[in-house]
Amino acid sequence: MDIPFNEPFIGKEEEQAIINALRQKHLRGDGPKTQGVQEEMEDWLNVNHVLLTTSCTHALEMAMIVLGIEEGDEVIMPSFNFVSSANAVILRGAKPVFADILPQTMNIDPADIEQKITDNTRAIVPVHYAGVSCDMDAIMNIAAQYDLYVIEDAAQGVDAYYKDNALGTIGDIGCFSFHDTKNITCGEGGAFITNNNDIAKKAEIVREKGTNRAAFIRGEVDKYTWVKEGSSYIPSDILAALLAAQLEKRDQIKAERKRIWQQYMDTLRPYKNHLQLPVIPNSCDSNYHIFYFLAEDEDQQSELIAAFKDVGIPATFHYVPLHSSPFYESNIGAEQSLTLTQQYSNRLIRLPLYPDLNVGEAYFKKISDVIDQLL
Ligand SMILES: Cc1ncc(COP(=O)(O)O)c(C=O)c1O
Repeated sequence: MDIPFNEPFIGKEEEQAIINALRQKHLRGDGPKTQGVQEEMEDWLNVNHVLLTTSCTHALEMAMIVLGIEEGDEVIMPSFNFVSSANAVILRGAKPVFADILPQTMNIDPADIEQKITDNTRAIVPVHYAGVSCDMDAIMNIAAQYDLYVIEDAAQGVDAYYKDNALGTIGDIGCFSFHDTKNITCGEGGAFITNNNDIAKKAEIVREKGTNRAAFIRGEVDKYTWVKEGSSYIPSDILAALLAAQLEKRDQIKAERKRIWQQYMDTLRPYKNHLQLPVIPNSCDSNYHIFYFLAEDEDQQSELIAAFKDVGIPATFHYVPLHSSPFYESNIGAEQSLTLTQQYSNRLIRLPLYPDLNVGEAYFKKISDVIDQLL
């Protein structure tokens, strides 16, 4: 029997939350459910401003608009990455510049960030892969030294921490994802997070189609109008209600994920001389978003993924590096030397990880059997 690769952790509470929101008849965004969940998140994350968005992709786009990223600017990020942060930069007519990753966490290498800084660099986008923080002390130091903004792509970092600070609250701006593949979900959604009051003021305008409608709703102006460029980044109050119900379960979600993540580690530890296992540095409290390991080489990666699939385990790769994507090669294209990025994406294997993954010992035995046959 095939198991799904991902499954949201949804129950009666979420159903009831949606029914209640519908009955309240405030379906558009920024209603009581949105206000409530934003305030709750500000308390939980210990941050000044949380604005719910329609996705993490949109929060990243907002970040680039708010910070005035424009043609001629460069923004440094990993190439071992989802497309959203690179697209957000491209949409401003600016250039994503890729830095290599660190071998233990797959996160951006601060030393390579420094190598890639030019007179045109304006910002750094650390991506917290798999819910394990980037080396934020090193990155914030570089940003301070070269006067750069830091936009944390914490799409995978909700409820994960670096030295007791919630991911997404350390840089100038943080971006969360509540996509249904993420730990906490409302189907499609995200959040724009900042401690900076000026950034928050600009963001609420960009998020509301470039108008000062939020100030109007608060009674600060008697008419609202077009004051800046912007778009429509506000999710419905129905989704905010769903999100509030999910957030109630965050401890349970994290504990279940951790349990399964540790079972994978116990299963793979005997093979640690062949397979590279993930590392959670002492400074990081993971949310166990992804379980991955590295095969010895590309051939073994393909063989293992195929063998897992044969026994009903939907293993998969992660990511095609952005610098080797068709879009990058045909539109931006200078050859880059990102040795570890290329090597590791050719070796990485992800296994399913979600709270409802109700698998017993037989499942983990199947995993060792597959590996025993191929090593
Ligand atoms: C690192 C990273 N950034 C951004 C995104 C985009 O998130 P969303 O689907 O909420 O736009 C994802 C989603 O997979 C992601 O993993």
